[in-house]
Amino acid sequence: MINSPTILVFDSGLGGLTVLREVVAARPDAHYIYVADDAFFPYGHHGEDEIIARVVPLMGELIGTHDPDLVVIACNTASTLVLSHLRAAYSLPFVGTVPAIKPACALSKTRRVSVLGTKGTVKREYTKALIRDFALGCEVTLVGSPELASLAEAALSGHPISDGDVLAELAPCFVGDPQDAGARTDIVVLACTHYPLLLDRLNKLAPWPVDWIDPAPAIARRVSDLLGARIGGIAQSGAEMIFTSNRAHGLSATLTPFFGGRVPA
Ligand code: DGL
Repeated sequence: MINSPTILVFDSGLGGLTVLREVVAARPDAHYIYVADDAFFPYGHHGEDEIIARVVPLMGELIGTHDPDLVVIACNTASTLVLSHLRAAYSLPFVGTVPAIKPACALSKTRRVSVLGTKGTVKREYTKALIRDFALGCEVTLVGSPELASLAEAALSGHPISDGDVLAELAPCFVGDPQDAGARTDIVVLACTHYPLLLDRLNKLAPWPVDWIDPAPAIARRVSDLLGARIGGIAQSGAEMIFTSNRAHGLSATLTPFFGGRVPA
């Protein structure tokens, strides 16, 4: 009998579910373990050394317990920092998510691109290097959002969040002449996996229309390429949801769509 591959998807909270749903759609044959490190959420509020010291040993424990074939670090705040450490420490493939600056700058017609991420992600040397290497002459505005990940987390858990609070985080992304569609931001990179959870709200509140870049489909393609051909005959394998705080998730009806219809154990 051939076993389905096990993919472990990791984030600080529920944001990585936006990556999970694309990976699940690309690879329904895999078994999924989603780990939310909610005991340490939000990562955007922690220093670089703290995140490395948290994630590298925690990943060792998770690999020891679940023996995944591949790990997706579905968190920009962690990926921009820990991927090289994880690859040095453990021998399985890691796929990360980092700000999609290269495709955004290639697409922008107005040459004005904003990158909306956590305060940690926009400060990273990794992010600055992406701008140096791939801005292609675009003006790139880095917007470090203190609260948007927590607002997304609250919204997904069914708590009301106010338009004013979301707009306060979003507004600095909109640069240039509001009246001139040729001289204002036309692309916003969603550089935190929590933000696509609020996409309807972002569209509603945006001062003018922009394209939002969500890297999840590209991550799913990369995962699928690394895993190789799908296992025929396996229509759908199971899924587990783990919170590092050990809280019971009680979110099944909300979570199920992200797991491609599976009810996570
Ligand atoms: N989802 C995470 C990211 O992509 C960050 C949220 C947090 O601050 O923990 O950056």
